[in-house]
Amino acid sequence: MNTTIRLSLAALFFSSLITFAAEKVDLSKLPAPSDKTIDFVKDLKPVLEKSCFGCHGAKPRAKAKYFMNDRQKSIAGGSSKEKAILVGKADQSPFLHFTADLVEEMEMPPLDKRDRYPKLTKDQIAMVRAWIDQGAKWPEGVELKAAP
Ligand code: HEC
Repeated sequence: MNTTIRLSLAALFFSSLITFAAEKVDLSKLPAPSDKTIDFVKDLKPVLEKSCFGCHGAKPRAKAKYFMNDRQKSIAGGSSKEKAILVGKADQSPFLHFTADLVEEMEMPPLDKRDRYPKLTKDQIAMVRAWIDQGAKWPEGVELKAAP
């Protein structure tokens, strides 16, 4: 293989990686944000405890290394090193993309685990969207707990 071919193959390879990192998501599939003011403790905490925390808790069984115990950790993200929540920008947040099944292989909860961890309803996803847009407000001192 000559050098030119090798270089163009390398360029092709890296450009495909960049495309992947940019996460092409079809935002038209997102439910519109809920128009109510989201009360995290009442509206979302129980949902996230039921559908996410079993894998994203303090001692996750999963390999995700993404902990949703408190606001700061939930925003920070996990092994991807990308922020999971971009405060004020729901449509750019992986947290919402994954929850709304916009990214193949990254559907949250994972497709094969939904008997135990139910997928969020359209209304709940709309609330997640509104919550992030409204500043991902999460009262000081509140932590997620394992669902009973
Ligand atoms: C059955 C276990 C399980 C459940 C339930 C689950 N996840 Fe995950 N999650 C994973 C695993 C495993 C990964 C890592 C996947 C990978 O990187 O390939 C992951 C990765 C993620 C990431 C990316 C973190 C990073 O930066 O690498 C986010 C964000 C996320 N999950 C959000 C959620 C949300 C929100 C819920 C609930 C709606 C949820 N997950 C429910 C197993 C789960």
